[in-house]
Amino acid sequence: MDKKALEALLNDMSTEEKVMQLVQIPGSEYEASAEITGIERGQVKDNVKKLAGSTLGIWGSKRLKKIQEKYIKEHPHHIPLMFMLDVIHGHKTVLPCPLGQGATFDPDTVRKGAEMQAQEAAADGVHATFSPMADLCRDARWGRIMESTGEDKILNSRMATAMVEGYQGDDLKDRNYIAACVKHYAAYGAAEGGRDYNNTELSEHTLREHYLRAYGEAIKKNPAMVMTSFNSINGIPATGNKFLMKKILREEFGFKGVLISDWGAVGEMINHGFAEDQRDAALKAMMAGVDIDMCSGCYSSSLEDLVNTGAVSVQMLDEAVLRVLNMKNDLGLFEDPYRGIDMDAGPVITGESRALAKEAVAASLVLLENKENTLPLRKEKNAFIGPYANNKKLQSSWAFSGEDENTVTVWEAALEAFDPESIKVSTGCTMLDQDTMTARGKRHVDNWEVENTKFMAEAVKAAEWADTVIMCLGEDFAQSGEATSKVSLKLPAVQLKLLNEIKKTGKRIVTLIFTGRPLELNEVRELSDALMICWLPGTEGGHGVMDVLLGKVSPSGRLPVSFPYTVGQEPLHYDMYPTGRPRPETGPSAFTSSYLDCENGALYPFGYGLSYTLFEFINPTLSAQKMSGSETITAYVTVRNTGAMKGSVTVQLYIRDVTSSRVRPVRELADFKKISLDPGAEEEVGFIINEEMLRFWTAEEKWESEAGKFLVWICNSSRDGQPLEFKLA
Ligand code: GLC
Repeated sequence: MDKKALEALLNDMSTEEKVMQLVQIPGSEYEASAEITGIERGQVKDNVKKLAGSTLGIWGSKRLKKIQEKYIKEHPHHIPLMFMLDVIHGHKTVLPCPLGQGATFDPDTVRKGAEMQAQEAAADGVHATFSPMADLCRDARWGRIMESTGEDKILNSRMATAMVEGYQGDDLKDRNYIAACVKHYAAYGAAEGGRDYNNTELSEHTLREHYLRAYGEAIKKNPAMVMTSFNSINGIPATGNKFLMKKILREEFGFKGVLISDWGAVGEMINHGFAEDQRDAALKAMMAGVDIDMCSGCYSSSLEDLVNTGAVSVQMLDEAVLRVLNMKNDLGLFEDPYRGIDMDAGPVITGESRALAKEAVAASLVLLENKENTLPLRKEKNAFIGPYANNKKLQSSWAFSGEDENTVTVWEAALEAFDPESIKVSTGCTMLDQDTMTARGKRHVDNWEVENTKFMAEAVKAAEWADTVIMCLGEDFAQSGEATSKVSLKLPAVQLKLLNEIKKTGKRIVTLIFTGRPLELNEVRELSDALMICWLPGTEGGHGVMDVLLGKVSPSGRLPVSFPYTVGQEPLHYDMYPTGRPRPETGPSAFTSSYLDCENGALYPFGYGLSYTLFEFINPTLSAQKMSGSETITAYVTVRNTGAMKGSVTVQLYIRDVTSSRVRPVRELADFKKISLDPGAEEEVGFIINEEMLRFWTAEEKWESEAGKFLVWICNSSRDGQPLEFKLA
């Protein structure tokens, strides 16, 4: 539909019709099997169901076609309903959780994954996804860190941008693509105490330099939507926050798309103590520029009255409605509400989608320890032990449209790779300690004590039989994701008990950790000869892990988030500001910024990961030692594979602004490149440093660079390398 026709449609709509285009209702109003991802507020009224502009949480081409046919017929202007769904790391073929995708440090792999997700979801009638989550997360207590790509603004920017490109393609009218939604705007990951939905207190310079960056970069790729976050920022809930939504999002970022609230967030401004009632909440959300109210009922109950009484102008209403109609138009829904999709078919998992997923798994795995080259596995007697050894639940709590039966477990992959006589499997213990709380409620196992005693005895026997034991441990899938904040980052006691029992057998131990967040791994590290983070790897988890265990692929993942010695260090991040009393390298000393009982830094730092081969960084160099604002410096290094296996390495460029009008981090990732090298091969890797990369929120509250000395590291993690120096004139 062209612009004029769209405006004619808008002018012909009643106020009620316009208001309802800004209302999103739960999919359960249309389909009993809908996925509910928020607090339900009871049945909506018939007129709302008949006129609501969009719904969420349902998929399936046949069922959506039936809903759409009825809806369009009954709508006074036959405007199509928009179907939205959380497709955050897979629809039918589930990829590694986003934190695992961050660990790939490979935006192109992530873009291809998003493209594949879009094709599968579009084939199921979905029009829009609520992804990428561009929240920066420095706190492992916050369970939604699983849905992020970690603690760094540059890594998050590259990943969020890649996802928007993958989901949306070049033209949303192309039925193989879906609308993207950058969320949760803003700074949701800075929740105080790591407790979900809690308030955030951030200085403007930390907000601008770290927390806002990935949203801003992703918005440059024109995502159809941005979603407001549940939290308040410096005392004002995001969903009613004009500074965030008008000044930053619309004016500075130039966002012209649809601003949708998170589930119920408009109404929750009452709980925040920011709105008096639903009418006041609706008014404050409209004044902040929120276009769609997701499931709070405030717009459907109060917005028409606000317009009729003049509290909200017709112009403001029309602008919001036009943004929603434009989005439907960009998707081609007016011409064809079914987008040319064979709605009787639906998506299928293909060899190609599995291959892409397996590649993504292998690229996401982070090898943390490999004492005496325990890995790759030898073709001898191997026992796979632990609650993740033969577990189909390898996807996250946000992959509800993927079916577990499609998942390949570690054991299933082992059966394909080894002579079945040479391997054994044993559960070893329950996933969780008795009566542990998860996002899905309390986990209770009848005869828990007896069951675990039996499991453990079987596991010890399997270990005694084996030459090497592969322990498959970790955090339950329902212990990360929304509303899963925890004050402990330890593995369940029952899993640690199992690991200690297996250690007593004296066998070589490879420990695989499946998790949606950083965990405390001190004890696991002591007990393991090799240690690898597998995240929540999804449908091809078993195959991807097995390819790396067998050495078909050398591990190349790097940590997108710091793994602490203890939860007491959280929030923890590598790019911290210096202090006036830095802790000496030699250890804590009086009157310095250190802990009496712990290191300052991470057990395993951001950007860290091992390979099966060795890489030498030769002669890191800067092309000049001085540059003016209009010039650039090239930082380069020769990387050589000095080992015996092919491998990939992520060359990381870090910069520190040594003296500035506002303190700057001890180092910040400025760029990265992942390269693959055959044994003995070498490659020169170069990075362009320009003035724009050196800008920050100065004491004068301007986004500028300042002359002075800068340090540069070209290295293999946020903790290694020797600094080079240059001056910005
Ligand atoms: C949830 C989540 C958000 C999700 C939305 C729709 O509450 O916070 O990430 O996209 O509701 O499911």
